[in-house]
Amino acid sequence: MTEILEPLGEAQIAVFVSGEARGSNMQALLDACMEKRILGEVRVVVGTRAEAPALARARDAGVSVHVVSPRKYEGQEDAYAEALLRLLQRYAINLVCLAGYLLRLPEPVVAAYPYRVLNIHPALLPLFGGKGMYGKRVHEAVIESGMKVTGCTVHFVDNDYDTGPILVQRAIRVFDEDTPETLAARLLPEEHRAYVEAVEIRTSRWLRVEGRRVVTYHP
Ligand code: GRF
Repeated sequence: MTEILEPLGEAQIAVFVSGEARGSNMQALLDACMEKRILGEVRVVVGTRAEAPALARARDAGVSVHVVSPRKYEGQEDAYAEALLRLLQRYAINLVCLAGYLLRLPEPVVAAYPYRVLNIHPALLPLFGGKGMYGKRVHEAVIESGMKVTGCTVHFVDNDYDTGPILVQRAIRVFDEDTPETLAARLLPEEHRAYVEAVEIRTSRWLRVEGRRVVTYHP
């Protein structure tokens, strides 16, 4: 199946984070909007816990912040989805960026924003992804596998973990002396570049999604 995606033009972004998110990818998107490397703005940051450092960073940057706790909606996924959708409508969002949001986004939200939800994963998908593969575990698995390269992936979100079509990847080398911590630290700046590039592509380029392949083209 082939899908044609028009450029979004200006991105009206909502960033989603979960738990105690640090928010460095969110910050990279904020900076890129401020510096006009991305056409558009981060209009709202949505978290799951009020104490998340990411939310404090967003407030400091003057961005609206909301906490929608999935715990409050336990057993009522539809109500959680509605609460998220209400916020997205209220801020006239056309692009959702998951940045350290480790939950599965409710299906109605994915359905309402086809090819308008992006996620970043700290590995070269389709390797080292899936439920429970996040943070340190990903880098441990990479080192154990013996691979000599790793990287990060920005992909469209579908209804599973880390399976949607890939938009941008950046790779780094794995050195003999690497630990999960050194790998994560060396990868982080590449994540920031990849996320900004992915948003820039989605706002400014025509895309054709052919099965799992995303290609840019000129209509
Ligand atoms: C990043 O490693 C990202 O790939 C993953 O969660 C981490 C979030 O880091 N999904 P930060 O909060 O953006 O600093």
